[in-house]
Amino acid sequence: MQPDPRLSGHLTRALSHELAAVQQYLMQAKLVGLWGMPEMSRQICKDVHEELEHAERLMERMLVLGVPSNATQLPPVRTGRCLEEMWQINRLLEIDAVRLYEEGSHYCARIGDIETQALFEGILKEELGHLGELERLLLSAQQKGAKS
Ligand SMILES: [Fe+2]
Ligand SMILES: [Fe+2]
Repeated sequence: MQPDPRLSGHLTRALSHELAAVQQYLMQAKLVGLWGMPEMSRQICKDVHEELEHAERLMERMLVLGVPSNATQLPPVRTGRCLEEMWQINRLLEIDAVRLYEEGSHYCARIGDIETQALFEGILKEELGHLGELERLLLSAQQKGAKS
């Protein structure tokens, strides 16, 4: 049986998002290391691993469903010139993630694919955590900026 093309689309877009996030956050981790902030660099590396784990979970599901797991073109990496700009850029990426997983989850509910829905909802919860963390980092960078 051919996989549902719309479900394949949701999974493929999600995988592209995760690989884009891995690429962007890894680049930022290295950049922040060059800026002399090793602790922050390690923190960003942890996010890289979380996003990579999302990609793994999506790929496993795609294999089960027979959906080819090739991410199409990745968007260009955006790093930012300072931490505040970096958090702003990443916040937008995480907002995209939340939207993708909400849409994916609604679609799965409509077609009754409970397993993929559970996968999307599980990842969605973690993306909401990323978004909250970025909003906290952004606020603290803005407060520091206002003081200096
Ligand atoms: Fe993710
Ligand atoms: Fe994320």
